[in-house]
Amino acid sequence: MTQDVFELPGPEGDTIVGSLADLGRDPLGFLTQCARDYGDIVPMRLGLTSVCLITNPDYIEQVLKDRETFIKSRGLRVLKTLLGEGLLTAEGDSWLSHRRLAQPIFHQKKINGYATAMVDYAEQMLAIWRDGETRDVHAEIMRLTLRIVMKTIFNTEIDEGEARTVANALDVAMHWFESKRRQGFLVWEWFPRPENIQYRRTIAEMDEAIYKLIQQRRDSDEETKDLLSMLMHARDEETGQQMNDKQLRNEVVTLMLAGHETTANALSWTWVLLSKYPEVRNKLQDELNQVLAGRSPTVEDIPQLRYTDMVIKESMRLYPPVSIIGREAVRDCTIGDYAVPEGCAIQISQWVMHRHPRYFENPEIFQPERWEDNLEKRLPRGVYIPFGDGPRICIGRGFALMEAILLLATIAQKFQLDVLPGFPIVPQPSITLRPEYGVKVQLKQLASHNNS
Ligand code: HEM
Repeated sequence: MTQDVFELPGPEGDTIVGSLADLGRDPLGFLTQCARDYGDIVPMRLGLTSVCLITNPDYIEQVLKDRETFIKSRGLRVLKTLLGEGLLTAEGDSWLSHRRLAQPIFHQKKINGYATAMVDYAEQMLAIWRDGETRDVHAEIMRLTLRIVMKTIFNTEIDEGEARTVANALDVAMHWFESKRRQGFLVWEWFPRPENIQYRRTIAEMDEAIYKLIQQRRDSDEETKDLLSMLMHARDEETGQQMNDKQLRNEVVTLMLAGHETTANALSWTWVLLSKYPEVRNKLQDELNQVLAGRSPTVEDIPQLRYTDMVIKESMRLYPPVSIIGREAVRDCTIGDYAVPEGCAIQISQWVMHRHPRYFENPEIFQPERWEDNLEKRLPRGVYIPFGDGPRICIGRGFALMEAILLLATIAQKFQLDVLPGFPIVPQPSITLRPEYGVKVQLKQLASHNNS
């Protein structure tokens, strides 16, 4: 027997705006409280929108698998002003044909080729770090992952010609999104306010630079192994179709955006946790000393870096770089035994699931050892989902895990990072879960390494 989901108990909220203010004040705390108070499926109202938070892993699986009934949320669709119809934002056949073209490019064997650039760039960053210095490691890692993603997409340096325009534009666009988010996306991008005019101008400049890079690549006979070339030459086996310039533009902007801030956040939170749990940091350093003995890590070392891998897994459990996934029901449907109306927004929160006491013992404690003995396989599907699941699972999962492990191994081998005492570490769930004020650390150079 199905029951209308809106007959179930949920937060009362305000008579006019529903739970909008509660969600706005502390989204992760509010969703966690809803899960604790009301259980598997929680109806609520946000302004005029009907919303369900789902916390039962079976329901989560059902929603993430069924991309035709549950499309991307309205919030994400705002990103279309920047990304156009790229993998992250497209739906239906348009998404499917892009995914089919891009999938082989992210095959582990292909992306292994980027490992050397990842480690080289990390070492270049470390070459100017000095013992005793104070740095914002979040800002440093953001720059590093952006450099890496630009190199892997365009095979160019971030401060060269067109690439510089593109990287700067991405920065302006991210700030614009952040200010719109703070205003609740109430002031739309077409409204002629100065910041909106600047946003559109920046996107136009970025597009011009990207189209130039695409044209240069089309004109050159040189075979390069970067993502742009591979996307350009990819051909759909069934239809024989290739991407046109506009599709390529949308895809490279999507990869730049999706591919650098997420991984940077995963690492920033890892430094916060390692600084708080010195016994974990010691164990990590023991593994690095044992496996690498002071040399630079390579992709072949990754299977041996088992504790390093568990540190990253555990860090993404406590601080999932994507902390909320949204969907919208495009028709009347059921989730489990509950009737859900067309237009209902569905919220799934990694933050809520990854800290759920039903699935994790001492969920608030950073304990990489919990991942021994294949915990990931033993958990019900739908509980640990840092990369989402179903057909729209993160296409960059292998890339991101390889990058996170290699960067952590490279940096942690040479420096110990201690968060400055009293420095405010505040999770801010924007497009990704970032530390609102950055992560100010003091660097301690480790004995085995000397920069001079
Ligand atoms: C730790 C790092 C990362 C995390 C936690 C992460 C997380 C996610 C999640 C949760 C989704 C699914 C969103 C949804 O279902 O609504 C997603 C999608 C996506 N991610 Fe990632 N991501 C990471 C790194 C990357 C990297 C490095 C790239 C590319 C180089 C990338 C490219 C994408 C793309 C293109 C999609 C859309 C896939 C589709 O809908 O077909 N991500 N990511």
